[in-house]
Amino acid sequence: LASIRVDVSGVQPGTQLTVLWQGKPVFIRSRTEEEIAASREVDVASLPDPVAQNENLNGAALATDENRALDETGTWLVQMGICTHLGCVPLGEQGDFGGWFCPCHGSHYDTAGRIRKGPAPRNLPIPVAEFVDETTIKLG
Ligand code: FES
Repeated sequence: LASIRVDVSGVQPGTQLTVLWQGKPVFIRSRTEEEIAASREVDVASLPDPVAQNENLNGAALATDENRALDETGTWLVQMGICTHLGCVPLGEQGDFGGWFCPCHGSHYDTAGRIRKGPAPRNLPIPVAEFVDETTIKLG
């Protein structure tokens, strides 16, 4: 499948870019220190979906913050913008966990895109992605 390259040089901490890839929205977020810290203090065993859902990792990888973030600092989070319940597009910086909120039926995702409350069964999926230089992310 075709890959695309996204310039993220203009994405400031605490904001996100939504790009369309293969006809689907992909959220590319530069997280703040607070967002990263909030995610890292969560006990994975307490999550509704304890699996990372990260196509870059082994399918059994746990949903730690480190296994969800794209880079080692944890700044970058790249995920499909499609609710795992019935496919609506969640809204950013909303919901009870400061991450994303799906208004269709009330699913709350945290700052790592992990489902925390509501009918969605799985964390937001992470597509194949990598940095190809300091400011360019390749999807696919
Ligand atoms: Fe998101 Fe139903 S589609 S909660």
